[in-house]
Amino acid sequence: MTARRIDGKTLSEALRTTVAEEVGRFQAAHGAVPGLAVVLVGEDPASSVYVASKAKQTVEVGMRSFEHRLPADTPEAELLALIEKLNRDDAVDGILVQLPVPRHIDSGRVIAAIDPLKDVDGLTEINAGRLAAGRPGLVPCTPYGSMMMLDWVGRPLAGLDAVVVGRSELVGRPMAQLLLMANCTVTIAHSKTRDLAEVCRRADVLVAAVGRPKMIPGDWVKPGATVIDVGINRIPAPEKGEGKTRLVGDVDFETAVEVAGAITPVPGGVGLMTVATLLANTLIAAHLRRGLTPPAVFADLNRRLFGR
Ligand code: GUN
Repeated sequence: MTARRIDGKTLSEALRTTVAEEVGRFQAAHGAVPGLAVVLVGEDPASSVYVASKAKQTVEVGMRSFEHRLPADTPEAELLALIEKLNRDDAVDGILVQLPVPRHIDSGRVIAAIDPLKDVDGLTEINAGRLAAGRPGLVPCTPYGSMMMLDWVGRPLAGLDAVVVGRSELVGRPMAQLLLMANCTVTIAHSKTRDLAEVCRRADVLVAAVGRPKMIPGDWVKPGATVIDVGINRIPAPEKGEGKTRLVGDVDFETAVEVAGAITPVPGGVGLMTVATLLANTLIAAHLRRGLTPPAVFADLNRRLFGR
């Protein structure tokens, strides 16, 4: 049997529609339009495409987009000064500094400079700490979007064995926290894990977030498991012509789709949800910053996803 596809295109469109409706309501009630500032340092082509896509989608849901593109040699102090300015700017509800930043800049210092109320990436110690303690805060976009995809699958998560492969600050760790809040029994696997194949085979929910193309083959997947593939890896695709490339996930989709119960494709999966969730987080931040309760649709979603 082949797995159900968890379609990031359809799910992200639905989320953007919800965000757009709520932006309209927010504007009518409070006379303000939520704003998202995205900061890119340097000219990394992939990051540049992501930033442009974020800005375009921000405008499409009726919010204001502030794009700041800085040269690769921008001094750290200048970036910190920009973040301070954005912290004070009342038109800005969310601040995202695209990662990775150039090596001469300390990403920890940059993240720490972001006002936690505007931290739509959920990366500040305040928001990461709240998540670790199971308290409300801004939740990192990729894990939040992945939880929405699990919600769509419709299989109750309580009591399931969840394995997260990867322990990054941006994805693996927060994803494990959210699965724990959803009452899964959670294992975080990483590069030092012994017998990774066996660990993966125990997973009712398998989340791959390592950034290694097709690392997880179908025979590491438990029959009927739900597979969330966070990887976005560009590999050579000579079959498409000389010098051509294509995107693949961390999971070998062709073999995994024959074993899993449900699976996210790459492209067309988690990546699309991440951006839509960023827009949702900006809208939520616009409420929290003003001492307002976020829209009921998100409160309901959060209760269903992780019981809070
Ligand atoms: N680079 C790749 N993904 C992300 C993300 O979700 N947030 C930020 N800030 N940078 C990224």
